[in-house]
Amino acid sequence: MTNLSSNGTVSYDVVDRIAWVRFNRPDKRNCMSPTLNQDMMEVLHELEFRDDVGVLVLTGEGTAFSAGMDLKEYFRETEAKGLGATRQAQRESYGWWRRLRWYQKPTIAMVNGWCFGGAYGPLFACDLAFAADEAQFGLSEINWGILPGGGATKIAVELLPFRKAMYHAIMGENVDGKTAAEWGLVNESLPLDKLKDRVTEVANVLLKKNPVALKATKDAIRRVSVLSYDDAEEYLVRMQEAANSYDNDGRKEGIKQFIDDKTYKPGLGAYDKSKQGA
Ligand code: ACO
Repeated sequence: MTNLSSNGTVSYDVVDRIAWVRFNRPDKRNCMSPTLNQDMMEVLHELEFRDDVGVLVLTGEGTAFSAGMDLKEYFRETEAKGLGATRQAQRESYGWWRRLRWYQKPTIAMVNGWCFGGAYGPLFACDLAFAADEAQFGLSEINWGILPGGGATKIAVELLPFRKAMYHAIMGENVDGKTAAEWGLVNESLPLDKLKDRVTEVANVLLKKNPVALKATKDAIRRVSVLSYDDAEEYLVRMQEAANSYDNDGRKEGIKQFIDDKTYKPGLGAYDKSKQGA
């Protein structure tokens, strides 16, 4: 059953523990208006701690993933209302991207089509990203006269080598899904008609992992990049201890099924969570 956010700009359904969340302004190429940003936060809030959701996939209805910020509603109309409205609109968009970056469940961006400018925020916020070969990625800000704001410049530098980031930002040329994968903007690129199957396959692998360990791991990958080695080492010790306080039995079960039961090999797959405590 497809659900709609309060204003209908986001649609979602939950199937077999995968939440499929879609930008739902296909006529506007899913560009992000203040209304959409509010709706997306509402949907992320609704889904984050539900027991029937193990993985969240973000994608777009129609031909776009998202054509970036809504130049009319997010920029022109908001700026016309003054600084307060502008700051509020920024908080709403940056707010849901931040929520997604640190989301409780693993997240996958499924880039089905156009992905411009501000859409790099949610692209980077998702833990993994898969694109259609047919998708087009661009920092088009330069083409209409601004710098890539809202984190987009930072994201380009995080994901791309210097020369590629610079070229991408100042040339305003698009790259397709295959090039995006070669550059590291996404994990993989596939023909559009294969995209959903591949994302489902990846989501199903994640669903088999220990969820406490997954959350600790995804946060650690984001955090350690800005820490010194020693700070990272300390953070990881504390993070593991914190994870153990939530789930001290999972890892023990993982060791037991390998060392005692010999029912799996950690090098080749995950332990059977359903047997925990049995
Ligand atoms: N902001 C506002 N409206 C938009 C946006 C946007 N970012 N993107 C698309 N639309 C609207 C169009 O104005 C049009 O509205 P209308 O039907 O009322 O005339 C509708 O969506 C459909 O767009 P078309 O341009 O007709 O669609 P087409 O498939 O031919 O082209 C494309 C798609 C290439 C994505 C084009 O719409 C485009 O260039 N959009 C802007 C992309 C962009 O540069 N985004 C901003 C990035 S910078 C940032 O986010 C800060």
